[in-house]
Parts: sequence; structure tokens; C-alpha cells
Amino acid sequence: MTASVRTAIFPVAGLGTRFLPATKATPKELLPVIDTPLIQFAIDEARDAGVERMIFVTHPSKSAIERYVMDDVRLRTELQAKGKPKLAAELLSASLSPTSDDVVFAMQDEPLGLGHAVLCAQYHVLPGPVAVILPDDLILGRGCIGEMIAAYEKAGRGHLVATMTVAPEETDKYGILSVTSGTGALLRENGMVEKPSLKEAPSNDAVVGRYVLDGSIFDDLRSQPPGAGGEIQLTDAIAAGAGRVGLCGYRFSGTRFDCGSKAGLFRASLHLAGQDPELAQVLDEVSARRGPAKAA
Ligand code: G1P
Repeated sequence: MTASVRTAIFPVAGLGTRFLPATKATPKELLPVIDTPLIQFAIDEARDAGVERMIFVTHPSKSAIERYVMDDVRLRTELQAKGKPKLAAELLSASLSPTSDDVVFAMQDEPLGLGHAVLCAQYHVLPGPVAVILPDDLILGRGCIGEMIAAYEKAGRGHLVATMTVAPEETDKYGILSVTSGTGALLRENGMVEKPSLKEAPSNDAVVGRYVLDGSIFDDLRSQPPGAGGEIQLTDAIAAGAGRVGLCGYRFSGTRFDCGSKAGLFRASLHLAGQDPELAQVLDEVSARRGPAKAA
């Protein structure tokens, strides 16, 4: 029988240099898409998927993450006193509770890479496979990690990574899979390489920030030397275990926004604005002022 996925790891220790100066005092995971911080989407996705324990791998300078994630009783009490019970209730349901949720904050003191960040969670995970969610990959639509956990539980053991096709000239921004077979949502893979050049890329099937990983990932991470960019790469540890435990790519159904980039975060905001009647009107006004789109 397949073990169930009980733990989700959120690597959130990065410096967010691409968004400076906004990220000088605000962690990039708290940057909002309209009024919802990126981390909230990730938490909701994990909660909807039914994971028991959430581990945030963060950095001592990013205490705002913990303040945001956890329930703030004082703020809610003040809102109640000011006659805003609805707002207080919304905050309560979005946050995690120290008494009824299983939440761990682990520290990654040095920026040694995504693999190192995941390794920092090793002593806190529950037995069995683990989910990893990168909050700056926003995936809207059906909960991606929930879809993946369902597929994982059918497929058996191994590593399962979310994948989408990218333009060939973009392979050097992603982990790239080496596909052996598969149709539909599940693709069999025999390897994965971190940020290869167009010439070296085995395909243009890129990994985006959702993973369901066999528990042996921690053994492979512990023995990983630094890889691309001098960092300990999650990709390399996944590739190291692929032959032993199996590796599949999962073509998720939702729409992914690269919110680690300004264009991606802006696109996500426009997308959600289009679904809000008041903001959609602003979009219409702006495009009317800009006039008809210029032909390329
Ligand atoms: C990380 C991973 C990479 C993956 C990407 C998805 O890279 O290392 O394999 O394709 O996330 O967003 P980063 O974007 O942190 O450089």
C-alpha cells in the first residue's frame, strides 16, 4: 500500500533580490497578488490537499512570515471591538492556529540552495513521502498539490514532479526532465538536470514548484555536492534517486504564474483583476486609454 503524504515543506528563506527594494523589509512570499500574499495561496493549496504538518523553512531575518502565517488574536479582538467581525472571521480562517494546526518553522541560516532548504526540514517531517511547494510558483485552478497527491497515491512510490512545456530558450531557468514515455498527465522520466542550456537540455519539459518526493530524498540530499550555481540542488538529489525509486512528471491542470519575476506577478494580478467586477472595470478603462493593441 502507498504511504500517504502527510507533510508539506515550504522553502521560504530566499532573499528575493529580484524584487528589491520591495523585499528589503517584506519577504517576497508576502508580496500580494491584489490583496492575497503568495504564501496564502500555497497554504490554502496544502490545506485543501489534506496534509497534516506544514513546515516553513525560513530565515531569521524573515520573522514577518511567521507573523503572517499564524493567527493574530490581538488583531482579531481589535477588529471585533471595532465592529468588523466579518474581517476578523476571514483572518481567522486564513491563518494557522498554534493549537489546532501542526506547524513548524525551521531555519535555513545560509543561502545554500533549494536542496539545502528542503534538507533543513529533515528532522521535522512525518514518516512517508513529502510534498514540497514553492510559493512563488502560483498555480491557479484545481489545487495542484492535491491533484499530484491523488496521482501519487495511485502510481505507488517514487518521486513525482509538476511539469509543463516551456520555450526551448527558457530551459536555463528550470529543472528539465528527461522523458522516456507517457501520455496524458503522467510521464515517465529517467532523469532531471538543473538549468541546462538549450544545447544541453534533454527536453523542454520543465519542472515547476510542486513536488511529491519519496522519503529517501533526505538521504540523497545529505550526500549532494553543490551543483548548478554552486548550490545544493533539489534537482540533483531527485535525479540521484530516480533510478532507485522511480521518477514521474505530472502535467497539472491549472495555470501557473512565475511570481518569482515581476512580469509573472503582474500577470497574476491582471488575471485575478479580470475576475473581480470592480477591478475589471479599471482594466477596461486602462486599455481604452491605451488604444488598440499595436501589431507586433
Ligand atoms: C527552482 C528549481 C528548478 C525549478 C524551479 C521552478 O529554481 O531549482 O528546478 O524548475 O524552481 O520554479 P529557482 O526558480 O528557485 O531558481
